[in-house]
Amino acid sequence: MRVPFIAGNWKMFKNRAEAREFAEEFKKLYKDTDVQTAICAPFTDLETLVEAFAGTDIKVGAQNVHFADEGAYTGEVSVAMLEDIGVDFCIVGHSERRQYFAETDETVNLKLKKLLTGAIRPIMCVGESLDERDAGSAFDRVKSQLQLGLADIDAKDTARIVIAYEPIWAIGTGRTATPEQAEEMCAFIRNTLIELYDEDTADEMIIQYGGSVKPANATDIMNMDEIDGALVGGASLKAKDFMEIIDF
Ligand code: PGA
Repeated sequence: MRVPFIAGNWKMFKNRAEAREFAEEFKKLYKDTDVQTAICAPFTDLETLVEAFAGTDIKVGAQNVHFADEGAYTGEVSVAMLEDIGVDFCIVGHSERRQYFAETDETVNLKLKKLLTGAIRPIMCVGESLDERDAGSAFDRVKSQLQLGLADIDAKDTARIVIAYEPIWAIGTGRTATPEQAEEMCAFIRNTLIELYDEDTADEMIIQYGGSVKPANATDIMNMDEIDGALVGGASLKAKDFMEIIDF
């Protein structure tokens, strides 16, 4: 059985004081549920959140990482540095990084491989643009992101990878994919994973939907068979909204 996994993606929001304030409020609201929860925060907030959530089930994630062990890579952070802080998850290949920071399927692949040498679980983002959806190539695009991103990754490691399907046209736009559209693509992702690996491997993997998830639509999305969780941007910045989503 796959454990539902709902993660927040704070993007470039919140300083340490704001992160601490969120954590205190969220811990008060937090009820034990069957859902695994994490907040993926800016690097500067990670230590604060790991400390604040110590002794709870609430996990902490980063939003990016470099694939080299260490070196002259100004502005970058390594897997070992994240492990040192005690981070549990790391987003890889978010569409904003693909769009603004030259992330490619090849760098996604290198980052996944590096993360899989340690204990941090990658959240690998895939998703098509509006042009690709309108042109009827959404499925091809997502398939190629999976093929290239997961290249040379062993079936034994894949259960640790979370796939987040985030159609670019639904991110931060208020325009959510319908639960049926999200389900259709998540089922397609599961089938692609069967092709790339096998049924047992694909069955174990968590597939999230992301893109304008909020308290009002979380239940419909989470009730879909092939959707195991959500990656939540804007609505994860408010403890009350995020808790309502987890408590779908
Ligand atoms: P959104 O962002 O929920 O604000 O649309 C989702 C994401 O980018 O992960």
